[in-house]
Amino acid sequence: MAAKAAAEKQIPAPKKDTPTFSPSKVTVLFVLGGPGAGKGTQCANLVRDYNFTHLSAGDLLRAEQDRPDSEFGNLIKEYIKDGKIVPMEVTVQLLENAMMDAVKKDKDGKGKFLIDGFPRKMDQALKFEESVCPSKFVLFFDCPEEVMQKRLLERGKTSGRADDNEESIKKRFKVFEETSMPVVDYFDKQGRVVKIVATKSPAEVYKETRGKLEERLGKNF
Ligand code: C5P
Ligand code: MG
Repeated sequence: MAAKAAAEKQIPAPKKDTPTFSPSKVTVLFVLGGPGAGKGTQCANLVRDYNFTHLSAGDLLRAEQDRPDSEFGNLIKEYIKDGKIVPMEVTVQLLENAMMDAVKKDKDGKGKFLIDGFPRKMDQALKFEESVCPSKFVLFFDCPEEVMQKRLLERGKTSGRADDNEESIKKRFKVFEETSMPVVDYFDKQGRVVKIVATKSPAEVYKETRGKLEERLGKNF
């Protein structure tokens, strides 16, 4: 808890009336699903075929953790190993910075983002939509724990991730159920969730993903 308080003190949430990016120029799709549901795999397919910018909150946190000058390195390491949600100030700022880099590079100042593994907690959802950019909807990969666990243990053989082990996986599942599913439910109540069955092979899951996205966004999204 001390680490969380320190993070909140060091990055005071800036007060803003309007989000940094307008949804008329910047498209945001949140990509959610339990650990091992296949979010990263499917995002890579969508980047290849539809030219999205893929931002994984977990990848950004791991990169920040490894950045030699980061004041949050140790804090992030601790949270990730325990599968806990890093204080949102850190994650929201990393996402906003990465989005800004991409939008600045676009000649029309536009952007099309898959924000993967975020928002994992209600405060992140509210904060991001209020201060960074309202999202179009959530792409939710629905997968039973047994399947996800098998995939994560397999990935753990080569991923080098400190949290792809049985003990961390158990904690991550619990946090997903208790903290992240309420976020999916919140958006679902607003009719803003596109749900994909994520149990099958990557190719089959991708077929459903494309179909449902085209239904929602038209052929040329
Ligand atoms: O999405 P991924 O499995 O890469 O996330 C790894 C870890 O990063 C999570 O278990 C959590 O500790 C942290 N994380 C977070 N907030 C997010 C996304 C990831 O704290 N929005
Ligand atoms: Mg991932």
